[in-house]
This record gives sequence, C-alpha cells and structure tokens, in this order.
Amino acid sequence: MQTTATRVAAVTVTLRGVDRTFGAADGAHHVLRGIDLDVDAGEVVALLGASGCGKSTLLRLVAGLDRPSAGQVMIDGARVDGIEARAAVVFQEPRLLPWRTLAENVAFGLPDGSPRGSRHSEVTHALDTVGLGSFAGYRPRAVSGGMAQRTALARALVRRPGVLLLDEPFAALDALTRLRMQDLVDDLQRTTGATVLLVTHDVDEALQLADRVVVLAPGADRAAGSGIAHLLDVPGARPRDRADPVLAALRVELLDRLGVPRQRPLPA
Ligand SMILES: Nc1ncnc2c1ncn2[C@@H]1O[C@H](COP(=O)(O)OP(=O)(O)OP(=O)(O)O)[C@@H](O)[C@H]1O
Ligand SMILES: [Mg+2]
Repeated sequence: MQTTATRVAAVTVTLRGVDRTFGAADGAHHVLRGIDLDVDAGEVVALLGASGCGKSTLLRLVAGLDRPSAGQVMIDGARVDGIEARAAVVFQEPRLLPWRTLAENVAFGLPDGSPRGSRHSEVTHALDTVGLGSFAGYRPRAVSGGMAQRTALARALVRRPGVLLLDEPFAALDALTRLRMQDLVDDLQRTTGATVLLVTHDVDEALQLADRVVVLAPGADRAAGSGIAHLLDVPGARPRDRADPVLAALRVELLDRLGVPRQRPLPA
C-alpha cells in the first residue's frame, strides 16, 4: 500500500534510572529497575521480554499514563509529567466505540481544541493513510479485526505523534493480516519519520521492524524487577527481506536469550 502520511517532528525518548514498584499486600512488587535507555528521534526500538516482565509498564511511563517510582522519563529532554501530547498509543485491542463510525472514532484521537474546520480533513487523511478512506462511515462491527486495528492506528496517527507507542498491536490478528500490518507500520514510520517503541512477543516482527531490539528480563534476584538484559542493533535498511539469512541467525540468538533454545533435546 502506498501511504500518504505526512512527516512529523520526531522526538527522542530517554529513560534514566527508571524504577517502577507497585504496592502489594505482601510488600512492594518491583517491576522495573534501573532502566537506562536512549531512543533517537526517528528510531524504531522493539521491546521483547517474557509476559509480565514490565513491557507495558514501560510504555505507559513513556506515554505519561503512569509515573516512575524513581528515575526520569524524558521526551526531547523534557520530563514527562502527565499525559504526553507528543505520544500516541496503540494497544493490542482496537478499543473503538462500537456506536461511532470509524471516522468518529479517529476524531477522538485529535487533540482538544484542534480547529473545527480542519478536523474533517485531518480524519479523512488519517483514514486514507491506513487504506480505510472509503470506510469512514462504517461502524466497527461492520469491519474486520485488521481494519479495526488500522482504525486504531489512524486514531493514533491523527495526533501526528512524535513518538508512536505500540503495545502488541498485531497480537490479536491472524498471521497474514499481521504481516500486512507490519508492512503498513514500516511504511508509515519511514514516511512520517516518527520515533516508534514497539512491544512485541514476536521475534520476527521485532527483527523486521526495528532498528534496535531491547530484551527486558529479571536479573538473578527476580524479586528486584526487570532490567535491560540485552541490546541488539538490527543490521540492514528497512524495508527488510523476510528471508534474509542474517535475520534468521539473529532470530535464533534472540529466542535463545528469551529461553527458547534452537532445538530441544530428545527425551531420554
Ligand atoms: N497498576 C498496577 N498495579 C499493580 N501491579 C501492576 C500494575 N500494572 C502492572 N502491574 C504488574 O506489573 C507487572 C508487569 O506488568 P506488564 O503489564 O507491564 O507486563 P508485560 O511485560 O506487558 O506483560 P505481557 O507480555 O503479558 O503484556 C505484572 O506483574 C503486573 O501485575
Ligand atoms: Mg503487556
């Protein structure tokens, strides 16, 4: 698909000594500990890690939906303090209002106070960029899961975010739709130039889309929370060849780091 998305002012994302601890009945629950990360403007960083290791928590901190217990989260060098206007989030489920049309749902992404006259054209443009221009008047139940998720992407893009925060955005889609969505996000990122933080469980997806892969994992003392266990620069310009043998080798390495060996030994 040829995307017509417009360029945005990409931002840097910086985490310095970030901890996130939740209070629990049996004491403090440390989720993230000592996270230091620098994401360049326009860079795509994938976050991998076992379920429950704190990936969504990290994304919520960057979006300003949550605050760190210690340390700092900064966007373009300014501390994130409350919901961050330069960020937009796409979740695993599209979270659309079923009684609203796709266009009305996308309009919810527009910042408060955006000029009335331009709202319609902004929404139309955002739907066009995800290939849904002719479905503006449809309601969510009348479109496929992939189209609903593209609508959620349009609702994020209409804000022209400097950083797009994607929390397993393709996880609920069938395998083929998922690959098409990956290509769409890849195209959109290259056209808009936005910074992207992508949480995924899919090692192939991370290698296909990211400039850098961050593996989050608990240290020896699991109760202390997760830190950055590994950073990997993904070689080669995007769009990438899904059959690239270099990526296949990195896939094995990343799976190994995630505790999935290349081959299981035969049972004795
Ligand atoms: N608001 C909260 N209050 C208490 N605990 C929380 C809260 N938010 C997250 N947690 C805990 O933090 C831990 C990490 O959660 P998080 O959702 O960030 O994991 P994740 O890596 O995104 O997992 P998944 O891959 O399953 O989505 C979990 O143990 C979770 O219960
Ligand atoms: Mg999560």
